[in-house]
Amino acid sequence: MQDKINKYFTEVDAFNPANAEELEQFRISSLGRKGWMQDLLIDFKTLPSEQKRETGKFLNELKSKVERRIEHFKNVFASTETEKTTYTDLSRPGIPVTPGAHHPLTLVRNQITSIFQKIGFSISEGPEMEDDWHNFSALNFPPEHPARDMQDTFFISKDPDFALRTHTSSVQVRVMENSKPPIRTISPGRVYRNEAISARAHCQFHQVEGLCIDEGISFADLKQTLLYFAREFFSVETEIRLRPSYFPFTEPSAEMDISCTLCKGKGCNVCKYSGWTEIMGCGMVDPNVLDNCGIDSHKYSGFAFGMGIERIAMLKYKINDLRLFFENDVRFLKQFIAGI
Ligand code: PHE
Repeated sequence: MQDKINKYFTEVDAFNPANAEELEQFRISSLGRKGWMQDLLIDFKTLPSEQKRETGKFLNELKSKVERRIEHFKNVFASTETEKTTYTDLSRPGIPVTPGAHHPLTLVRNQITSIFQKIGFSISEGPEMEDDWHNFSALNFPPEHPARDMQDTFFISKDPDFALRTHTSSVQVRVMENSKPPIRTISPGRVYRNEAISARAHCQFHQVEGLCIDEGISFADLKQTLLYFAREFFSVETEIRLRPSYFPFTEPSAEMDISCTLCKGKGCNVCKYSGWTEIMGCGMVDPNVLDNCGIDSHKYSGFAFGMGIERIAMLKYKINDLRLFFENDVRFLKQFIAGI
């Protein structure tokens, strides 16, 4: 019997289960009701009483060794079990991540700026709070000129010389003051006008204005540049039309229409059956403006244009309410995830 006990001692010492199932089998085969420990106890009962003391001691030792061994491996497997649940299982399907999206106004602004960058225009930016000189006076709006009312200005109550800019032409004044021709620049940015908010108007919106000044710049250059833009941005079949208009800072001035993007000029309810949609104001920079900004109007001439980004985006994406751009409704914004 002592030999048997010794054999089990070495077996228990060598026992090294790979997983919880092997451990459970070991527990059943050793301490279980039909396990070898039970067999040993049965044998033990048949021993002569003088041997019982000595062998009993070994049997007890063997039993507690088995118990300690089982306990030890139980703990080992329990902790790897928690590890399994705390660590990522790389074989599981991934958690979907919704990609972010550019705002449609950002997409359209980027497109407009890159079209002009391709033909050598730089990008210039300026402050949203402007003084009277940059927003009005330098641009040939004399004091008391009714055109100042045309733009529904938000003045700053503390200092009437300051206002929220009503157009980004103010940036062009800054560029002309600080650089020498040839100048080719576009100024994208946010502008403000005190208008009632509706599907077609807002008190804040965005513009891209352009300016080109050099020797011998003519109205033909303006027309060709805007035709290039219209065809790059909308489609190669787009036609443009220039109608006489008035701005204090350009002479002559014009409004530019494009052939309706929806009906291609045939007439529909978007273009009010005219076949044309107005998209921007433009003209030859008034010589007074050049002189105001320190550019010799006898030597240089130039053209300028300005368009609302919201209006262009509404045409491009067939959006019928301008307020959607400012409400940040995710159902609207996520339609632009794919970008352009
Ligand atoms: N600044 C004008 C506006 O805000 C647009 C414009 C720019 C018109 C340049 C002519 C030339 O309406």
